[in-house]
Amino acid sequence: MRAVVQDRFGPPEQVLRVTDIDRPEPGPGEVLVRLRATSVNTPDWIAVAGVPYALRLAARAKGAVRGTDVAGTVAALGEGVTGFGVGDAVFGTKWGSGFATAGTFAEYTTTGADRLVRMPAGLSFTDAAASVMSGLTARAAVVDAAAAGPGTRLLVNGASGGVGTFAVQIAKHRGAHVTAVCGPGNLDLVRGLGADAVVDYTAADFTAGADRYDAILDNVLNHPPRRAFRALAPGGVYLPNSIGNSVGLLAGLATMAGANLRGVLTRTRVASVDGGFTPERLAEVGDLVTSGAVTPVVDRVYPLEETPAAVARMYSHRARGNVVITMGD
Ligand SMILES: NC(=O)c1ccc[n+]([C@@H]2O[C@H](COP(=O)([O-])OP(=O)(O)OC[C@H]3O[C@@H](n4cnc5c(N)ncnc54)[C@H](OP(=O)(O)O)[C@@H]3O)[C@@H](O)[C@H]2O)c1
Repeated sequence: MRAVVQDRFGPPEQVLRVTDIDRPEPGPGEVLVRLRATSVNTPDWIAVAGVPYALRLAARAKGAVRGTDVAGTVAALGEGVTGFGVGDAVFGTKWGSGFATAGTFAEYTTTGADRLVRMPAGLSFTDAAASVMSGLTARAAVVDAAAAGPGTRLLVNGASGGVGTFAVQIAKHRGAHVTAVCGPGNLDLVRGLGADAVVDYTAADFTAGADRYDAILDNVLNHPPRRAFRALAPGGVYLPNSIGNSVGLLAGLATMAGANLRGVLTRTRVASVDGGFTPERLAEVGDLVTSGAVTPVVDRVYPLEETPAAVARMYSHRARGNVVITMGD
């Protein structure tokens, strides 16, 4: 099968190559999926680039196939799998199985049957792929961590990325008042997603203004937590959610740890965003999309052969919404 294989850590277009490798076999409890689409997420570019450097201890480079989001059809069932049939359209994840060597930047992948759900009618493979990690993360932030609802004032920093575009729409669907922070070229995009207020980060600093928020979803971590805390209303919650765009041993992980420590010291609520998969959570995201409450924003769709460019696009931190890769027709 065609697959995108990594040789070493570094810039995506220098270290990824498209080649032929053996098709994986589904083990007991696993499903072989013929992929129709996947997307590029933070774990993919950090595993390709090898930053934070600490990650290199866990993610070996040579021969690895990256990618975690699954959208495709069931090609074969491993021993003991029930509930799926060959040809079923499914979406789900490989995330949580470590930086596995049989990722989704390929024509086929295997994953646990318990990490897949049937795609609802009306969901395209492209939208399904865009919805897995970005949708699960945004849902976790808005629903579980912020408990956003009518009257909640939510600020989303990094509103124009994959996670941010889902978060703005899910929060609006739940009746929250949403302030979206992004660059000047994306203000119309986030307004179109329903944001009540927008902040152009090149013209204003949300941590220095007079507005206060019940929840701040921080997908960028470009302000020290002590400054971000100043924008919280009494009792508000800060959600640090970025491994970071910078190089370094720990990159954004250190800032997230610092935010948690400062939260304890200043009695400020800080909550982590657990975008982990459960079938129920992904089904909820799928329903939001097929009901029309949320429209996945897709930056660009790349054919599998152009995966190095797709990963480079995410690595630029300028993608508008989600970067999707498709396989075949
Ligand atoms: N908790 C989890 O399970 C989980 C899972 C996946 C991802 N994440 C985290 O979610 C975050 C967002 O990921 P993503 O996929 O949405 O894409 P992303 O590429 O990390 O974020 C894109 C956004 O970042 C903004 N941005 C980039 N550089 C900036 C800067 N210097 N100042 C201000 N804004 C800047 C962009 O704004 P403009 O382009 O408009 O300028 C855009 O809105 C990541 O940091 C990632 O670590 C967490």
